[in-house]
Amino acid sequence: MKPTISKKVSSFKNKKSPIREIMDLANPEFFKKAGLNPADVISFSGGWVNHEAPDDLRNAYAQIIHDTKRFHASGAYPPTIGMPECRKAIVDFEKYLYGEEIDLAPENIAIGCNSSQMTANLMNIILDAGDKLMLLDPAYPNYPAQVLAIDNIEIVRFPVLDTTEWKFVADEQKDEFATFIRKEKPKMILLCAPDNPTSQIPSTAFIKAALDAATETGSFLVIDFAYKELVWQDELPEYFSWGANDNFISIRSNSKWCRGLGRRLGWIEAPAEIVAAFEAVQGSTILCPDTLHQMALVDYINAGIAANSIKPYIKEISLLYQKAAEQTVASIEKHLGMPCLVPQGGLYTVMNVNMDGTEFTRKVLENTGVIVVPGWGFGDTMKNAVRLSYGPLVHDLVKIDEAMQRISKYLRK
Ligand SMILES: Cc1ncc(COP(=O)(O)O)c(C=O)c1O
Repeated sequence: MKPTISKKVSSFKNKKSPIREIMDLANPEFFKKAGLNPADVISFSGGWVNHEAPDDLRNAYAQIIHDTKRFHASGAYPPTIGMPECRKAIVDFEKYLYGEEIDLAPENIAIGCNSSQMTANLMNIILDAGDKLMLLDPAYPNYPAQVLAIDNIEIVRFPVLDTTEWKFVADEQKDEFATFIRKEKPKMILLCAPDNPTSQIPSTAFIKAALDAATETGSFLVIDFAYKELVWQDELPEYFSWGANDNFISIRSNSKWCRGLGRRLGWIEAPAEIVAAFEAVQGSTILCPDTLHQMALVDYINAGIAANSIKPYIKEISLLYQKAAEQTVASIEKHLGMPCLVPQGGLYTVMNVNMDGTEFTRKVLENTGVIVVPGWGFGDTMKNAVRLSYGPLVHDLVKIDEAMQRISKYLRK
Protein backbone atom coordinates (compact mmCIF):
# COMPACT_ATOMS: atom_id res chain seq x y z
CA MET A 1 0.00 0.00 0.00
CA LYS A 2 1.33 3.45 -0.90
CA PRO A 3 1.64 5.59 2.23
CA THR A 4 0.30 9.14 2.25
CA ILE A 5 1.64 12.38 3.61
CA SER A 6 -0.19 14.10 6.48
CA LYS A 7 -3.59 15.65 5.82
CA LYS A 8 -2.30 18.97 7.15
CA VAL A 9 0.61 19.24 4.70
CA SER A 10 -1.43 17.80 1.90
CA SER A 11 -4.06 20.52 2.25
CA PHE A 12 -1.34 23.22 2.67
CA LYS A 13 0.38 21.93 -0.46
CA ASN A 14 -2.80 22.08 -2.51
CA LYS A 15 -3.78 25.53 -1.31
CA LYS A 16 -2.87 28.47 -3.53
CA SER A 17 0.22 30.02 -1.93
CA PRO A 18 1.35 33.60 -2.48
CA ILE A 19 4.94 32.74 -1.56
CA ARG A 20 5.08 29.90 -4.08
CA GLU A 21 3.45 32.22 -6.62
CA ILE A 22 6.16 34.85 -6.02
CA MET A 23 8.98 32.29 -6.23
CA ASP A 24 7.45 30.85 -9.45
CA LEU A 25 7.02 34.26 -11.04
CA ALA A 26 10.71 34.90 -10.44
CA ASN A 27 11.91 31.58 -11.88
CA PRO A 28 13.41 31.58 -15.43
CA GLU A 29 11.82 28.14 -15.97
CA PHE A 30 8.47 29.83 -15.44
CA PHE A 31 9.28 32.51 -18.07
CA LYS A 32 9.94 29.75 -20.59
CA LYS A 33 6.68 27.96 -19.72
CA ALA A 34 4.81 31.23 -20.22
CA GLY A 35 6.33 31.41 -23.74
CA LEU A 36 8.62 34.32 -22.85
CA ASN A 37 12.23 34.76 -23.83
CA PRO A 38 14.05 35.09 -20.48
CA ALA A 39 16.35 37.71 -22.03
CA ASP A 40 13.34 39.99 -22.73
CA VAL A 41 11.65 39.58 -19.39
CA ILE A 42 11.79 42.44 -16.90
CA SER A 43 10.89 41.09 -13.51
CA PHE A 44 9.78 43.02 -10.45
CA SER A 45 8.79 39.85 -8.65
CA GLY A 46 11.88 38.83 -6.68
CA GLY A 47 12.12 40.02 -3.10
CA TRP A 48 15.87 40.10 -3.17
CA VAL A 49 18.82 42.45 -3.31
CA ASN A 50 21.34 42.57 -6.11
CA HIS A 51 24.22 44.73 -4.84
CA GLU A 52 27.61 43.17 -4.18
CA ALA A 53 28.46 41.65 -0.81
CA PRO A 54 31.28 43.55 0.97
CA ASP A 55 34.76 42.60 -0.28
CA ASP A 56 35.86 42.28 3.34
CA LEU A 57 33.21 39.63 3.94
CA ARG A 58 34.31 37.70 0.85
CA ASN A 59 37.90 37.93 2.06
CA ALA A 60 36.85 36.69 5.51
CA TYR A 61 35.41 33.56 3.88
CA ALA A 62 38.54 33.20 1.72
CA GLN A 63 40.87 33.39 4.70
CA ILE A 64 38.96 30.71 6.58
CA ILE A 65 38.86 28.45 3.55
CA HIS A 66 42.59 28.84 2.89
CA ASP A 67 43.52 28.15 6.49
CA THR A 68 43.56 24.36 6.96
CA LYS A 69 42.88 24.49 10.70
CA ARG A 70 40.15 27.11 10.54
CA PHE A 71 38.46 25.39 7.62
CA HIS A 72 38.46 22.19 9.66
CA ALA A 73 36.95 24.13 12.60
CA SER A 74 34.22 25.49 10.31
CA GLY A 75 33.07 21.93 9.72
CA ALA A 76 32.23 21.39 13.39
CA TYR A 77 28.78 21.73 14.96
CA PRO A 78 28.49 25.04 16.82
CA PRO A 79 26.30 25.45 19.95
CA THR A 80 22.55 25.22 19.26
CA ILE A 81 21.90 28.97 19.48
CA GLY A 82 25.20 30.06 17.96
CA MET A 83 28.86 30.53 18.81
CA PRO A 84 29.47 32.82 21.83
CA GLU A 85 31.86 35.00 19.79
CA CYS A 86 29.21 35.43 17.08
CA ARG A 87 26.48 36.34 19.59
CA LYS A 88 28.90 38.93 21.03
CA ALA A 89 29.86 40.25 17.57
CA ILE A 90 26.15 40.70 16.76
CA VAL A 91 25.68 42.80 19.90
CA ASP A 92 28.74 44.88 18.92
CA PHE A 93 27.33 45.27 15.39
CA GLU A 94 23.96 46.51 16.70
CA LYS A 95 25.64 48.97 19.09
CA TYR A 96 28.00 50.19 16.36
CA LEU A 97 25.13 50.81 13.92
CA TYR A 98 22.26 51.83 16.20
CA GLY A 99 23.87 53.27 19.34
CA GLU A 100 25.92 52.20 22.34
CA GLU A 101 22.89 52.80 24.56
CA ILE A 102 21.02 49.75 23.20
CA ASP A 103 20.19 47.49 26.10
CA LEU A 104 21.38 44.25 24.54
CA ALA A 105 23.77 41.49 25.69
CA PRO A 106 24.88 38.20 24.12
CA GLU A 107 22.34 36.47 26.43
CA ASN A 108 19.61 38.20 24.40
CA ILE A 109 20.81 36.71 21.10
CA ALA A 110 19.92 33.36 19.56
CA ILE A 111 21.34 32.60 16.12
CA GLY A 112 19.56 30.34 13.63
CA CYS A 113 19.84 29.35 9.98
CA ASN A 114 17.78 32.31 8.78
CA SER A 115 14.98 34.56 9.91
CA SER A 116 12.28 32.53 8.11
CA GLN A 117 13.11 29.47 10.23
CA MET A 118 13.36 31.57 13.38
CA THR A 119 10.02 33.29 12.76
CA ALA A 120 8.33 29.90 12.41
CA ASN A 121 10.07 28.65 15.57
CA LEU A 122 9.17 31.84 17.44
CA MET A 123 5.49 31.36 16.57
CA ASN A 124 5.75 27.87 18.01
CA ILE A 125 7.43 29.19 21.14
CA ILE A 126 4.86 31.92 21.73
CA LEU A 127 1.52 30.60 20.49
CA ASP A 128 -0.87 28.00 21.90
CA ALA A 129 -4.00 26.67 20.22
CA GLY A 130 -6.75 29.28 20.51
CA ASP A 131 -4.30 32.23 20.58
CA LYS A 132 -4.45 35.13 18.17
CA LEU A 133 -1.71 36.41 15.86
CA MET A 134 -2.12 40.05 14.86
CA LEU A 135 -0.83 41.27 11.51
CA LEU A 136 -1.23 44.47 9.57
CA ASP A 137 -3.07 44.43 6.26
CA PRO A 138 -1.12 44.29 4.00
CA ALA A 139 1.60 42.03 5.47
CA TYR A 140 4.35 39.67 4.26
CA PRO A 141 2.46 36.56 3.01
CA ASN A 142 4.82 34.08 4.65
CA TYR A 143 3.52 34.99 8.13
CA PRO A 144 0.04 33.43 7.69
CA ALA A 145 1.65 30.45 5.95
CA GLN A 146 4.16 29.96 8.79
CA VAL A 147 1.52 30.01 11.51
CA LEU A 148 -0.53 27.34 9.69
CA ALA A 149 1.83 24.77 11.21
CA ILE A 150 0.24 25.50 14.60
CA ASP A 151 -3.33 24.31 15.13
CA ASN A 152 -6.17 26.70 15.70
CA ILE A 153 -4.50 30.12 15.60
CA GLU A 154 -6.75 32.99 14.61
CA ILE A 155 -5.15 35.71 12.50
CA VAL A 156 -6.55 39.17 13.15
CA ARG A 157 -5.55 42.01 10.86
CA PHE A 158 -5.46 45.76 11.19
CA PRO A 159 -5.71 47.62 7.84
CA VAL A 160 -3.07 50.31 7.33
CA LEU A 161 -3.62 51.09 3.66
CA ASP A 162 -6.32 53.58 2.72
CA THR A 163 -7.39 52.01 -0.57
CA THR A 164 -9.26 55.14 -1.74
CA GLU A 165 -6.45 57.63 -1.19
CA TRP A 166 -3.77 54.93 -1.67
CA LYS A 167 -2.01 56.09 1.44
CA PHE A 168 -0.22 54.27 4.32
CA VAL A 169 -2.19 55.40 7.35
CA ALA A 170 -0.62 53.45 10.22
CA ASP A 171 0.68 56.52 11.99
CA GLU A 172 -2.60 58.39 11.96
CA GLN A 173 -4.37 55.21 13.15
CA LYS A 174 -2.03 54.52 16.07
CA ASP A 175 -4.69 55.03 18.76
CA GLU A 176 -7.15 52.80 16.90
CA PHE A 177 -4.40 50.18 16.60
CA ALA A 178 -3.75 50.29 20.35
CA THR A 179 -7.49 49.99 21.01
CA PHE A 180 -7.67 47.04 18.61
CA ILE A 181 -4.82 45.30 20.50
CA ARG A 182 -6.58 45.89 23.84
CA LYS A 183 -9.82 44.48 22.42
CA GLU A 184 -8.41 41.45 20.58
CA LYS A 185 -5.64 40.60 23.09
CA PRO A 186 -3.41 38.83 20.56
CA LYS A 187 -0.61 36.74 22.02
CA MET A 188 1.72 37.87 19.25
CA ILE A 189 1.75 41.06 17.17
CA LEU A 190 4.06 40.71 14.18
CA LEU A 191 5.13 43.87 12.34
CA CYS A 192 7.84 44.58 9.76
CA ALA A 193 10.04 47.70 9.45
CA PRO A 194 10.73 48.75 6.76
CA ASP A 195 7.65 46.89 5.72
CA ASN A 196 7.17 44.27 3.03
CA PRO A 197 5.21 45.00 0.80
CA THR A 198 4.69 48.74 1.40
CA SER A 199 8.31 49.77 2.18
CA GLN A 200 6.95 52.17 4.77
CA ILE A 201 8.55 52.63 8.21
CA PRO A 202 5.95 52.89 10.98
CA SER A 203 6.69 55.84 13.27
CA THR A 204 8.03 55.44 16.80
CA ALA A 205 4.69 56.81 18.07
CA PHE A 206 2.88 53.92 16.34
CA ILE A 207 5.28 51.31 17.75
CA LYS A 208 5.15 52.88 21.24
CA ALA A 209 1.34 52.84 21.21
CA ALA A 210 1.44 49.18 20.16
CA LEU A 211 4.02 48.30 22.83
CA ASP A 212 2.05 50.06 25.59
CA ALA A 213 -1.06 48.10 24.61
CA ALA A 214 0.95 44.86 24.28
CA THR A 215 2.44 45.37 27.74
CA GLU A 216 -1.05 45.79 29.17
CA THR A 217 -2.50 42.74 27.45
CA GLY A 218 0.52 40.47 27.99
CA SER A 219 1.34 40.22 24.30
CA PHE A 220 4.65 39.92 22.47
CA LEU A 221 5.32 42.73 20.02
CA VAL A 222 7.69 41.29 17.41
CA ILE A 223 9.32 43.33 14.65
CA ASP A 224 10.79 41.64 11.62
CA PHE A 225 13.75 43.86 10.67
CA ALA A 226 14.74 42.00 7.47
CA TYR A 227 15.29 45.36 5.68
CA LYS A 228 16.59 47.42 8.63
CA GLU A 229 19.88 48.42 6.95
CA LEU A 230 18.20 49.37 3.64
CA VAL A 231 16.92 52.72 4.90
CA TRP A 232 17.95 56.09 3.50
CA GLN A 233 16.43 58.69 5.79
CA ASP A 234 19.04 60.54 7.86
CA GLU A 235 17.35 60.06 11.18
CA LEU A 236 16.34 56.54 12.14
CA PRO A 237 13.26 55.95 14.30
CA GLU A 238 14.02 55.58 17.99
CA TYR A 239 12.79 51.98 18.11
CA PHE A 240 15.59 50.92 15.73
CA SER A 241 17.75 51.37 18.85
CA TRP A 242 15.65 49.38 21.28
CA GLY A 243 17.00 46.23 22.86
CA ALA A 244 14.77 43.39 23.95
CA ASN A 245 12.37 43.44 26.88
CA ASP A 246 9.62 41.17 28.22
CA ASN A 247 7.19 42.32 25.53
CA PHE A 248 9.52 43.31 22.67
CA ILE A 249 11.43 41.00 20.31
CA SER A 250 13.36 41.76 17.10
CA ILE A 251 13.92 39.31 14.26
CA ARG A 252 17.12 39.98 12.28
CA SER A 253 18.84 38.59 9.24
CA ASN A 254 21.94 39.11 7.13
CA SER A 255 20.09 38.08 3.96
CA LYS A 256 19.58 41.54 2.57
CA TRP A 257 22.17 44.04 3.77
CA CYS A 258 25.31 42.02 2.93
CA ARG A 259 23.66 40.15 0.06
CA GLY A 260 23.82 36.92 1.96
CA LEU A 261 20.55 35.55 0.56
CA GLY A 262 21.84 32.09 -0.21
CA ARG A 263 24.61 32.35 2.38
CA ARG A 264 22.60 33.61 5.28
CA LEU A 265 22.01 33.38 8.95
CA GLY A 266 19.34 34.93 11.12
CA TRP A 267 19.10 35.90 14.75
CA ILE A 268 16.57 37.09 17.28
CA GLU A 269 16.99 39.69 20.00
CA ALA A 270 14.78 38.62 22.85
CA PRO A 271 14.51 38.28 26.62
CA ALA A 272 16.70 35.49 28.04
CA GLU A 273 13.64 33.26 28.58
CA ILE A 274 12.83 33.29 24.86
CA VAL A 275 16.50 32.66 24.01
CA ALA A 276 16.41 29.61 26.30
CA ALA A 277 13.24 28.42 24.54
CA PHE A 278 15.09 28.71 21.20
CA GLU A 279 17.84 26.52 22.59
CA ALA A 280 15.24 23.83 23.29
CA VAL A 281 13.31 24.21 20.03
CA GLN A 282 16.27 24.61 17.65
CA GLY A 283 17.92 21.56 19.20
CA SER A 284 15.17 19.43 17.73
CA THR A 285 14.53 21.36 14.51
CA ILE A 286 17.85 22.56 13.03
CA LEU A 287 20.20 21.22 15.72
CA CYS A 288 22.43 24.26 15.18
CA PRO A 289 23.11 27.07 12.68
CA ASP A 290 25.95 27.06 10.15
CA THR A 291 29.51 27.50 11.49
CA LEU A 292 31.26 28.88 8.41
CA HIS A 293 28.82 31.80 8.06
CA GLN A 294 29.20 32.63 11.75
CA MET A 295 33.01 32.56 11.59
CA ALA A 296 33.09 34.80 8.53
CA LEU A 297 30.55 37.21 10.04
CA VAL A 298 32.56 37.47 13.28
CA ASP A 299 35.76 38.29 11.37
CA TYR A 300 33.91 40.77 9.15
CA ILE A 301 32.18 42.55 12.04
CA ASN A 302 35.24 42.73 14.29
CA ALA A 303 37.54 44.08 11.57
CA GLY A 304 34.79 46.28 10.10
CA ILE A 305 34.04 47.98 13.41
CA ALA A 306 37.75 48.53 14.09
CA ALA A 307 38.23 50.10 10.66
CA ASN A 308 34.81 51.79 10.65
CA SER A 309 34.16 50.31 7.19
CA ILE A 310 30.69 48.83 7.76
CA LYS A 311 28.80 52.11 8.08
CA PRO A 312 30.12 53.53 4.76
CA TYR A 313 29.26 50.22 3.05
CA ILE A 314 25.71 50.30 4.40
CA LYS A 315 25.30 53.95 3.49
CA GLU A 316 26.53 53.24 -0.04
CA ILE A 317 24.20 50.31 -0.63
CA SER A 318 21.15 52.00 0.85
CA LEU A 319 21.71 54.91 -1.55
CA LEU A 320 21.60 52.41 -4.43
CA TYR A 321 18.15 51.27 -3.30
CA GLN A 322 17.03 54.85 -2.76
CA LYS A 323 17.91 55.61 -6.38
CA ALA A 324 16.12 52.48 -7.61
CA ALA A 325 13.06 53.40 -5.53
CA GLU A 326 13.06 56.95 -6.91
CA GLN A 327 13.40 55.67 -10.46
CA THR A 328 10.52 53.23 -9.96
CA VAL A 329 8.17 55.88 -8.58
CA ALA A 330 9.19 58.42 -11.26
CA SER A 331 8.65 55.91 -14.08
CA ILE A 332 5.27 54.85 -12.68
CA GLU A 333 4.20 58.48 -12.43
CA LYS A 334 5.49 59.34 -15.89
CA HIS A 335 4.21 56.36 -17.87
CA LEU A 336 1.32 54.89 -15.88
CA GLY A 337 -0.01 57.61 -13.62
CA MET A 338 -1.18 54.91 -11.19
CA PRO A 339 -1.09 55.60 -7.44
CA CYS A 340 1.87 54.01 -5.68
CA LEU A 341 3.57 54.45 -2.31
CA VAL A 342 6.92 56.23 -2.07
CA PRO A 343 9.32 53.76 -0.39
CA GLN A 344 11.09 54.83 2.81
CA GLY A 345 13.40 51.79 2.80
CA GLY A 346 13.49 48.21 1.56
CA LEU A 347 12.82 46.95 -1.92
CA TYR A 348 9.21 47.53 -2.85
CA THR A 349 6.38 49.73 -3.85
CA VAL A 350 2.71 48.82 -4.07
CA MET A 351 0.65 50.16 -6.95
CA ASN A 352 -3.12 50.47 -7.16
CA VAL A 353 -4.08 49.06 -10.59
CA ASN A 354 -7.81 49.62 -10.06
CA MET A 355 -8.70 46.11 -11.24
CA ASP A 356 -8.14 42.61 -9.93
CA GLY A 357 -4.36 42.41 -9.31
CA THR A 358 -4.08 38.81 -10.56
CA GLU A 359 -5.84 39.67 -13.81
CA PHE A 360 -3.59 42.71 -14.27
CA THR A 361 -0.45 40.64 -13.59
CA ARG A 362 -1.47 37.94 -16.08
CA LYS A 363 -2.34 40.39 -18.88
CA VAL A 364 0.78 42.48 -18.37
CA LEU A 365 2.99 39.40 -18.29
CA GLU A 366 1.52 37.90 -21.46
CA ASN A 367 1.55 41.14 -23.41
CA THR A 368 4.69 42.90 -22.23
CA GLY A 369 7.02 40.36 -20.61
CA VAL A 370 7.01 42.45 -17.43
CA ILE A 371 6.44 40.53 -14.21
CA VAL A 372 4.85 42.04 -11.11
CA VAL A 373 3.33 40.29 -8.09
CA PRO A 374 -0.45 40.23 -7.60
CA GLY A 375 -1.51 41.77 -4.30
CA TRP A 376 -4.08 39.22 -3.00
CA GLY A 377 -1.55 37.27 -0.92
CA PHE A 378 -0.62 40.35 1.14
CA GLY A 379 -4.17 40.94 2.39
CA ASP A 380 -7.56 42.31 1.37
CA THR A 381 -6.28 45.87 1.00
CA MET A 382 -4.10 44.70 -1.91
CA LYS A 383 -6.71 42.85 -4.01
CA ASN A 384 -6.70 45.56 -6.66
CA ALA A 385 -2.99 46.19 -6.42
CA VAL A 386 0.39 44.73 -7.29
CA ARG A 387 3.80 44.72 -5.58
CA LEU A 388 6.86 45.77 -7.53
CA SER A 389 10.33 44.92 -6.29
CA TYR A 390 13.15 47.11 -7.62
CA GLY A 391 15.71 45.09 -5.63
CA PRO A 392 16.84 42.80 -8.46
CA LEU A 393 17.11 45.83 -10.81
CA VAL A 394 19.26 47.98 -8.54
CA HIS A 395 22.04 48.09 -11.17
CA ASP A 396 19.59 48.25 -14.08
CA LEU A 397 17.56 51.42 -13.64
CA VAL A 398 17.06 51.78 -17.40
CA LYS A 399 15.06 48.57 -17.36
CA ILE A 400 12.74 49.96 -14.72
CA ASP A 401 11.77 52.78 -17.05
CA GLU A 402 11.55 50.47 -20.05
CA ALA A 403 9.17 48.17 -18.16
CA MET A 404 6.79 51.02 -17.33
CA GLN A 405 6.90 52.18 -20.95
CA ARG A 406 6.00 48.67 -22.12
CA ILE A 407 3.07 48.46 -19.69
CA SER A 408 1.87 51.92 -20.65
CA LYS A 409 1.99 51.08 -24.36
CA TYR A 410 -0.04 47.92 -23.79
CA LEU A 411 -2.63 49.63 -21.55
CA ARG A 412 -3.16 52.43 -24.06
CA LYS A 413 -4.05 49.94 -26.80
C1 LIG B 1 9.66 40.56 5.64
C2 LIG B 1 10.61 39.46 5.38
N1 LIG B 1 11.06 38.72 6.40
C3 LIG B 1 11.92 37.70 6.21
C4 LIG B 1 12.35 37.37 4.94
C5 LIG B 1 13.29 36.23 4.77
O1 LIG B 1 14.44 36.42 5.51
P1 LIG B 1 15.58 35.28 5.59
O2 LIG B 1 16.30 35.32 4.29
O3 LIG B 1 16.41 35.67 6.74
O4 LIG B 1 14.88 33.98 5.79
C6 LIG B 1 11.91 38.10 3.85
C7 LIG B 1 12.35 37.75 2.50
O5 LIG B 1 11.95 38.24 1.50
C8 LIG B 1 11.01 39.17 4.08
O6 LIG B 1 10.55 39.90 3.07
